[in-house]
Amino acid sequence: MRILAIETSCDETAIAILQGTGNDIAIEVSLVRSQIDIHAAYGGVIPEVAAREHLEMISSMLARTARADGEGIDAIAVTAGPGLAPALRVGVEVAKTLAWAWKKPLIPVCHLEGHIYASWISSKPPQFPVLALIVSGGHTELVLMHDHGNFERLGETLDDAAGEAFDKVAKMFGLPYPGGPAIAALAERGDSKVFHFPRPMLDRDDAMFSFSGLKTAVLYELRKNDARIHDETFRSNIAASFQEAIVETLVEKTMRAAGKLAPKSIVLAGGVAANTVLRDRLKEAGEHRGIPVYVPALQHTLDNAAMIAVAGYYRAQHGENAVDPLTLVVNPNQDI
Ligand code: KG4
Ligand code: ZN
Repeated sequence: MRILAIETSCDETAIAILQGTGNDIAIEVSLVRSQIDIHAAYGGVIPEVAAREHLEMISSMLARTARADGEGIDAIAVTAGPGLAPALRVGVEVAKTLAWAWKKPLIPVCHLEGHIYASWISSKPPQFPVLALIVSGGHTELVLMHDHGNFERLGETLDDAAGEAFDKVAKMFGLPYPGGPAIAALAERGDSKVFHFPRPMLDRDDAMFSFSGLKTAVLYELRKNDARIHDETFRSNIAASFQEAIVETLVEKTMRAAGKLAPKSIVLAGGVAANTVLRDRLKEAGEHRGIPVYVPALQHTLDNAAMIAVAGYYRAQHGENAVDPLTLVVNPNQDI
């Protein structure tokens, strides 16, 4: 079965083609066009600007990916939510039109489910039950995946997502959007023991997160040291200490959930999964408990359509989920 997948939920226009037979899947094409340089000027993603850029790019990307008559494509998968409504609408309307014109099944995919499925792109698929930690710009969630298409949300953030906290701290430093990679680079040169920032929600025996207080603690520390804000050592130490607080909290909460639920594998998903310290620390913790940890290849951690194709493929395999191509609507607040 060959799936064409489209992803436009935020600031990446992405199209992919997957060829699959049973558990053998191959990504034949994966195009990603990032708009980061455009949004960086505004300090964040502007939904209407994102939609305009998706519109400008999507036809030519499609033309490079599929034949005009849809020959060779068996189904179309598209991100229907969560995400920015105007941005989502571009991908969804294109997918609806193609499904209608080509008379192919249309499979809406949840963006978060897509992030989890990025770990199926590696050679050996994770074993169920899978405990997934989703850490992106908009979400921080722990999810227990019992089987394909069977997700149980264990907990989420009460306020800021982990990626959002990285982005906001970067802004305090005057660093461009998205701040995660910039903070991670600064942290590499810093000492994470110089400042002790709170490890939010570690006192609670559940899978809930909260990163807004941590962000405020960083803000207070910066205000207290106003004169040193341009001092590289000071900046690096703050970045390293902040990153350490986030990583320790995420890893500790994930391992506590693993201790209770005994999953066969752990999957790290979402844009913050590009963070090297988080990747290494979660792998180490999993090894310690004897649970394999799957971390997607770097190009599959940030938004892409290959992960949407995999999620759509498994939805198609399990016989459900094709929808009427004329009535599908986006769901900006969709949950897993
Ligand atoms: O999954 P994603 O591409 O978009 C959403 O679905 O939100 O995630 C983007 C988020 C941004 O907040 C960005 O700052 C963060 O991922 N990010 C990182 C790193 N690379 C990207 N955060 C920490 N360390 C990184 N290396
Ligand atoms: Zn994402």
